[in-house]
Amino acid sequence: MSDYTFAKADNDLFAVYQTIYSQADIEMWFSWEHRLNDTKGCKDCFFLCRGDDKLGGAVISGGAVRNAFLVPPFDDHSLFWRLVIEKAKSLTKKAEIICNGVLAGEVETLRSLGVRVWRPRQIMCRPTDVLPYSLPAGFTLEAPTQADIPEIAKVAYTVNLGSISEEMFGRESLRDVKKEVKKSFAYFAETGTMDQCSVIRDAEKQIVGGCVAGIYPQMPLGFAFIADVFVLPEFRGQGLAGAMLRHALTMAHPKTPLMKLHVLVDNPAANLYHKLGFIPGPVFTDMKYSRKE
Ligand SMILES: CC(C)(COP(=O)(O)OP(=O)(O)OC[C@H]1O[C@@H](n2cnc3c(N)ncnc32)[C@H](O)[C@@H]1OP(=O)(O)O)[C@@H](O)C(=O)NCCC(=O)NCCS
Repeated sequence: MSDYTFAKADNDLFAVYQTIYSQADIEMWFSWEHRLNDTKGCKDCFFLCRGDDKLGGAVISGGAVRNAFLVPPFDDHSLFWRLVIEKAKSLTKKAEIICNGVLAGEVETLRSLGVRVWRPRQIMCRPTDVLPYSLPAGFTLEAPTQADIPEIAKVAYTVNLGSISEEMFGRESLRDVKKEVKKSFAYFAETGTMDQCSVIRDAEKQIVGGCVAGIYPQMPLGFAFIADVFVLPEFRGQGLAGAMLRHALTMAHPKTPLMKLHVLVDNPAANLYHKLGFIPGPVFTDMKYSRKE
């Protein structure tokens, strides 16, 4: 084991190594530049070395590991991860080490080392296009305004209670949900893309569903993103979410060729996206290791 050392990496060199050897564009960036930039701001990029040879690398920081890769011909995945976890443990007193964005081919190796699966996720995307939609009688689809934020947040909050997202990411307070919607709307106002958002009202003019979608200024290549889509349980199965997504894809079309979203692998909502022609990128799993007493 003492043959192996971790060397602090030069960020520019590390970025090239991780872009080439991680072998997966998990964020569906379709962009060399943006994949390079992913780790350029990180202080804690390490190469795993034996003598002068680079065997792999990872960003290891604050009890978390990400952007891990092996460099061929080294292919002892079990040894690699054992050393990475030992290094992470040595750098923090935290009780848990989080391995973020673990690719499917690595999950079993990590499990065999006692690291448990936490959140399997993936990005999905499809081209924007003009996609007609219809609504069941009594419902209307509207562009939301700032004044709708409290009601939208209340519906989103209600939908989230007991959901798989809550199970994986924890419960958000109504106040936090409101803040997030407000923040997204502010970004979309900045990029002139609020028209991709929508709410659906029933015959009594109550909001029963919403779609928070648009272009975030920081989104690589100016792609559009669906931050959330939700429908109250009693109004599901009538095509309301499908209508909001088709609306978003249509409104986005003149501005950007591609719309993306982020979904938990076990969320049945993935089927909704699949039915609308979204294609999934590689599955990446956040995993947790608990330090033994
Ligand atoms: C996911 C959600 C928005 C779907 O709303 P909805 O109005 O019932 O969806 P639609 O009626 O428009 O469904 C459109 C298609 O997707 C499919 N679909 C929708 N939800 C589905 C589910 N939970 N499981 C399987 N298929 C589903 C429908 O079968 C339908 O297919 P069809 O056109 O062949 O009939 C709703 O279930 C919800 O709010 N879930 C909780 C929040 C959530 O998980 N949001 C996604 C975050 S990534």
